[in-house]
Amino acid sequence: MAAVACRGVRTVLGKSAGTSILTHIDDGPDDEGMMFKRPGKLSDYFPNPYPNDEAARSANNGALPPDLSYITSARHGGENYIFSLLTGYCDPPAGVSVREGLYYNPYFVGGAIGMAQALYNEVMEYSDGTPATASQMAKDVSVFLKWAAEPEHDDRKKMALKALMMFSMLFSITYYIKRHKWAVLKSRKIAYKPPQ
Ligand code: HEM
Repeated sequence: MAAVACRGVRTVLGKSAGTSILTHIDDGPDDEGMMFKRPGKLSDYFPNPYPNDEAARSANNGALPPDLSYITSARHGGENYIFSLLTGYCDPPAGVSVREGLYYNPYFVGGAIGMAQALYNEVMEYSDGTPATASQMAKDVSVFLKWAAEPEHDDRKKMALKALMMFSMLFSITYYIKRHKWAVLKSRKIAYKPPQ
């Protein structure tokens, strides 16, 4: 859930992730016209961590952290790109200098990104004891974001397979019936027999 700390994944419902992270949801207005905070509900979307884009920019050296809801669909390489980006931070090669406040990442277009490296080995612990390597976390975040962008992906593929099987069967039957019905017309011969 680290991805939610610094940016929104606005399309994901609380029920998909458990409500534990949705503690203070802004709601209102109440009977007196005042906005108030309430505990999260299963039907809440993840709240945006910043009240507006300007606040987000000013907290991130002027760079706007994008909403990650559909990021895997919005970038070539999808989840592979996210994984590479998260694990790809390194020193700039000789001759390349990066402006103050930016970080070198060869996977980002232009090479200089406004997001600092977020994942390091052991920055968190897995409850099941999985070694918390940066690449393990990057993989988990990437597949989570892939799921967030296309939660219906697997169902869609299964449905497409069923549809293809159905349509190929229907097509064969239709083709057979068409040939059968047209056979009379296709095989007829019109001949002129002059009167004797
Ligand atoms: C594991 C958690 C995170 C993930 C998966 C993630 C992912 C991303 C992705 C995919 C981009 C867009 C790159 C592109 O446009 O191709 C991005 C940009 C950005 N992220 Fe993150 N991020 C994470 C954590 C953070 C954190 C903790 C911060 C802030 C402290 C942050 C700040 C930013 C900023 C400012 C940008 C815009 C960079 C620019 O346009 O130069 N990110 N992030």
